[in-house]
Amino acid sequence: MEYKVKIKGTGMFVPEKILTNTDLSKMVETNDEWIFDRTGIRERRISNTEGGEFPSDMAYNATLDALKDANLEPNDIDMILFGSVTPDYKLPNTAVVLQQKLGITNHCASLDIAAACSGFVYGINMAQAMIKTGMMKNILVVGSEMLSREVNWEDRGTCILFGDGCGVSIIGRNEDADESDILSVHLGADGTGSEFFDQPIGGAIHPITTDHLENRTHFMQMKGREMFKVATRTLAQNARTVLEKANLKLEDVDWLVPHQANIRIIETTGKLLGIDPEKVIINIDKYANTSAATVPMAFHEAIKDGRIKRGDIVLFDAFGAGLTTGATLLRY
Ligand SMILES: CC(C)(COP(=O)(O)OP(=O)(O)OC[C@H]1O[C@@H](n2cnc3c(N)ncnc32)[C@H](O)[C@@H]1OP(=O)(O)O)[C@@H](O)C(=O)NCCC(=O)NCCS
Repeated sequence: MEYKVKIKGTGMFVPEKILTNTDLSKMVETNDEWIFDRTGIRERRISNTEGGEFPSDMAYNATLDALKDANLEPNDIDMILFGSVTPDYKLPNTAVVLQQKLGITNHCASLDIAAACSGFVYGINMAQAMIKTGMMKNILVVGSEMLSREVNWEDRGTCILFGDGCGVSIIGRNEDADESDILSVHLGADGTGSEFFDQPIGGAIHPITTDHLENRTHFMQMKGREMFKVATRTLAQNARTVLEKANLKLEDVDWLVPHQANIRIIETTGKLLGIDPEKVIINIDKYANTSAATVPMAFHEAIKDGRIKRGDIVLFDAFGAGLTTGATLLRY
């Protein structure tokens, strides 16, 4: 027996502090025009380092909204999948921290997913498999990032691109008399491109030394051009793959919710696919690239402003460091 799967509730949280392109131009040699033209970004949110806006805090706030939306209680959650490359701690994992903050007492399985910007889509696709087979009933899938901690604020090639934020979805067994379901999924990775976007310092092989701190080599580093090329190819191919698996056509898709890394990547992908730009959800101007959080945040905003409605066909499409990638085709 296979169960139908439904996204029952969504939520998001972003820090209060806004960092505009003009603010950035006082920190590195850049300007609003360059950043907006090349990326579509106007501003991003930055977490308060005093507390209250760390990845687990943002996820806690976003989950309260998602639980209300889904009409569920914290103890109805059977599992937490927490997509993040900026966890609260190395140990314990942030999913467990969130379990405690939510007051969940059912000892639900709690796991972090380090798949970079594909983390949320990895989570949704893994969750739907466990729900379809009956192993789990409700899974909380999170994308929550505090990239402001890992960005080199002296490197104008990367610091302009990222921001902090969180989006969550509660995905569960569909026991309602409607057609909501996950129609097809795709997950993949290509390790040959891992050096395009990495952070090798600070792991087991290269613990951080004072040298690294002095030379600022412990932050994320990226080859922007290479990432750009792979991203557009991958996102377009992902979309074709999930459509083919579900035996649907691009015209059947009501909404494309792509990873928000760069407006030009999104537009190029759209052109490669031939999708109507009106069907593409974009919020990169307000939040920049929040890694695992971009897809659930964009999805949540488009539901709340009335664009995405129950019954619509929605396509999540993501890629990120690794290089990881994934797509989900669903009837909301
Ligand atoms: C990062 C990115 C915006 C850079 O745009 P680009 O057109 O590739 O620009 P380049 O890196 O080739 O740099 C072009 C010039 O702008 C300069 N430049 C770079 N960053 C700048 C900034 N913030 N402000 C002003 N000038 C900048 C460069 O120094 C270079 O100058 P030069 O020609 O004198 O050497 C773009 O490559 C990109 O978005 N890539 C994808 C990144 C991504 O998606 N990463 C996340 C994946 S999950």
